[in-house]
Amino acid sequence: MNKKDITQIKNLDGKRVFLTCDFNISLKNGSLTNDTRIREVIPTIKYLLRRNCHLILASHLGRPKRHDLTFSLKPVAKRLEKFLGLPVELVDYYWQDKALPLINKISPEKIVLLENIRFYKGEKNNDPEYSAHLAKMADIFVNDAFGASHRVHASIVGIAKFLPGYAGLLLKKEIDMLQKALHNPQRPLLVFIGGAKTPEKISVIEKLLDKADSVALGGAIANTFLAAWGFGMGQSLVDYEMVEMARTVFWEATRKHSALILPIDVVIQNSHTKNKPQIVNYDLVPSDVAIFDIGPQTNLLYRKLIHNAKTIIWNGPMGYYENKLFQKGTDRLLKDIVQADAFKIIGGGDTLSFIGNQKYLNHFNHVSTGGSAMLEYLKNGTLPGIEVLQNN
Ligand code: 3PG
Repeated sequence: MNKKDITQIKNLDGKRVFLTCDFNISLKNGSLTNDTRIREVIPTIKYLLRRNCHLILASHLGRPKRHDLTFSLKPVAKRLEKFLGLPVELVDYYWQDKALPLINKISPEKIVLLENIRFYKGEKNNDPEYSAHLAKMADIFVNDAFGASHRVHASIVGIAKFLPGYAGLLLKKEIDMLQKALHNPQRPLLVFIGGAKTPEKISVIEKLLDKADSVALGGAIANTFLAAWGFGMGQSLVDYEMVEMARTVFWEATRKHSALILPIDVVIQNSHTKNKPQIVNYDLVPSDVAIFDIGPQTNLLYRKLIHNAKTIIWNGPMGYYENKLFQKGTDRLLKDIVQADAFKIIGGGDTLSFIGNQKYLNHFNHVSTGGSAMLEYLKNGTLPGIEVLQNN
């Protein structure tokens, strides 16, 4: 990447660094459900510590509307202490002026972690005064929050107006890997898009048709495309507002000579009677049932594509993965991709939870920490949090 990154800073010794991270991790009974997003920032933290930097870390967690300690970063602070073997001081009310001398006084032997950066409304509003306040805590700004870099927020974009800004090692790795897959990829380039969030993903699919040889769909987004063909989708999750747009995307796919591939069979169930799930063809979905997964014939079709592909990008599960009955489509796809002899990238908000198993993760060339950020990067080739470093 041609953005400035921390390895290019000549004199880091003793500097105060404001390091924005994406520690937005779901909590279950107050505990972290997955710590990949923390592990992935450790190389940047260690790099800066080796250069005697005094670190002030910031991140959001969840979408709090105000100061609300159910969204506290306390479990993150504990996990950081465990990984680093160093005390991490969690600082609340960091937006008050009196917090600045306190933060300055904290011993450089400790790492400072600001409490949830969204506890103060200036963060989401990208308030210049608030950004200037955050900037007063440090000499240098480092963004390692790839997963949040699509947000125009104070700790991602605003602060870079007041401090020299650099990319951290994780941000750099994410960009390098995605660029490798998108610009000049080894072909065929095959992209799988699943999950819900149709409005967000449909424009990504449209853009990807310019670059990919095939884009194959699963999950709720595939239902919307099948509905656009005119097939009855019963009670399935369909974004009817997006059906017209899906038709346009089909038309564009034909013009661009790239393949947009839909499931040929699906797993259905009546959500009320909860009868045994059945497998039917995509065009035979009864009106009283919903689609919850792709079927085995679709997996066979996708396996053939995977076998030929030289670059594979995957974002989003193929079905309602939270329910064990509907995990097979995603599991089979995962196993097939893991075995493929291709450059492989996987990402997406739910991805890290559905591939909990490290043995599978190790088979990917890159596991992106970004969900929406990854999609937006695939669409636009950049993100606001990256742009601002370039122009800083
Ligand atoms: C994510 O998990 O996608 C990022 O942390 C961004 O979170 P947000 O959608 O709440 O901004």
